[in-house]
Amino acid sequence: MKIVKKNSYKPEERTAVVIPVFKGTPLAAIWEEFPELKFLDRDKKIKGAAGEAQVCQSLQQQRLFLLIGAGRRDSLPDARKLACKIMTLLRENRVSKALVYFIPPDPYSHGYLVNLVDYLHLNNYRFDRYLRKKSKPVLRLDLVCQKKIPLPAADIKEREEINNSAAFCRDLVNEIPAKITPDSLVQTATTLAKEHQLKLSIFRKPELAEHGLNGLLAVGAGACCSPALIQLDYVPEKFSRHVSLVGKGITFDSGGLNLKPGKSMEEMKSDMAGAAVVFAIIKSVAALRLPVKVTALAAVAENMPGNQAYKPGDIITYANKKTVEIVNTDAEGRLILADALIMASRQKPNVIIEFSTLTGAIITALGDGMAGLMCRNKKLKSDLFQAANACGELLWELPLFSEYRKDITAKIADLKNADYRGASSIKAGLFLQEFVGKTPFAHLDIAGTAFLSKPGFWLNTEGATGFGVRLLVEYLKNLG
Ligand code: BES
Ligand code: MN
Ligand code: ZN
Repeated sequence: MKIVKKNSYKPEERTAVVIPVFKGTPLAAIWEEFPELKFLDRDKKIKGAAGEAQVCQSLQQQRLFLLIGAGRRDSLPDARKLACKIMTLLRENRVSKALVYFIPPDPYSHGYLVNLVDYLHLNNYRFDRYLRKKSKPVLRLDLVCQKKIPLPAADIKEREEINNSAAFCRDLVNEIPAKITPDSLVQTATTLAKEHQLKLSIFRKPELAEHGLNGLLAVGAGACCSPALIQLDYVPEKFSRHVSLVGKGITFDSGGLNLKPGKSMEEMKSDMAGAAVVFAIIKSVAALRLPVKVTALAAVAENMPGNQAYKPGDIITYANKKTVEIVNTDAEGRLILADALIMASRQKPNVIIEFSTLTGAIITALGDGMAGLMCRNKKLKSDLFQAANACGELLWELPLFSEYRKDITAKIADLKNADYRGASSIKAGLFLQEFVGKTPFAHLDIAGTAFLSKPGFWLNTEGATGFGVRLLVEYLKNLG
């Protein structure tokens, strides 16, 4: 979708007009701009609460008008809700060209408009490859504002680029498990590397064995396709910071021998969302040429039962010599991430930020509206919170409480991969913390936020969300 800003209103044919009605916008102000709307019923007028809407057709012009409650002019959540409502209604009405007319006064902040533009893009997305009847996307949207909008055209272009990467991430996560395998993700990374001149290195079975990456080998043992550790590097000419991103890429999580029950397995194609998000972030960073060195490491495997599968009771010895007893083959994420974290920390980045659909418990705790953040580094934590609140990909902190560490100590190995006495998201975080040494580390549990089973409060479609792409681009832009 092309978004263009305009200073005046010259309605073309078949262009729908969207009018955000903010709290306190008098109906008279709307009439002043659009006399053709005078027929609107005074009593039924919308009061401006975000999300309220009225769709009408003007009589003379046969034009579609959408009056949409927009809340407050300075509220980022209201901007997101407004954008969501706009796109939902435009799509429902099969509109492909529209303009959004802001009634003065219009003191929109840059942040407000960025959120508006982002959520317009995000809510125009559909995964409809497998649908015979596709709904029409909006192709063109003009933002009309009489005064100068504090959003330069270059920023609109940049948001389009970032949202393309988010859509790339969503496509990867929504794609069916027959198509997304360790082999296919290796292919995806190869294409990305070519398109954006990234350095690429791939470890498959022989290289994994050579480097002692035994978590990936164990978890991937039951599948037909070799596991992989995929590394992409973006190295700008000048940089002072190096950020390493690690993503969980379980292309399908059946649970392994600890097989998941049917209902829990339904959405497990999304267990590679961490890998998809680190690919999408580095794609964005390369396209925007940000002045930060970024490494994306994806730990990729399929977790399947079978005669070669790893078993409860097995012990894995890691490249850093730590040993882990397998209690449950369904707690596989931390086992492959440990390999990737060891590799990441050996490269001595300034920080490691890791994304994984790691625990069902994070959904119990936080639902699908915020991701769990576990981080012992104050600066990294506050930078991530700042980016989260700016872009709407929200985080909530869970403590890496050291007293719980003993609950993941095993009898005949250093650690065990699961424990059933509560706080399972935190214990998973404590497990990961064991593999990063002293490097500042943030763990984001995106099991709830990466994939929605129903449309969300700011997103009008279920399925993959691209959670983390805009968050990290914001974080990295602030670093550079
Ligand atoms: N991939 C799942 C976590 C998950 C659950 C993601 C629901 C998205 C939606 C993970 O591998 C898993 O199975 N975790 C177990 C860990 C337990 C066995 C300690 C869980 O959370 O139940
Ligand atoms: Mn699992
Ligand atoms: Zn999993």
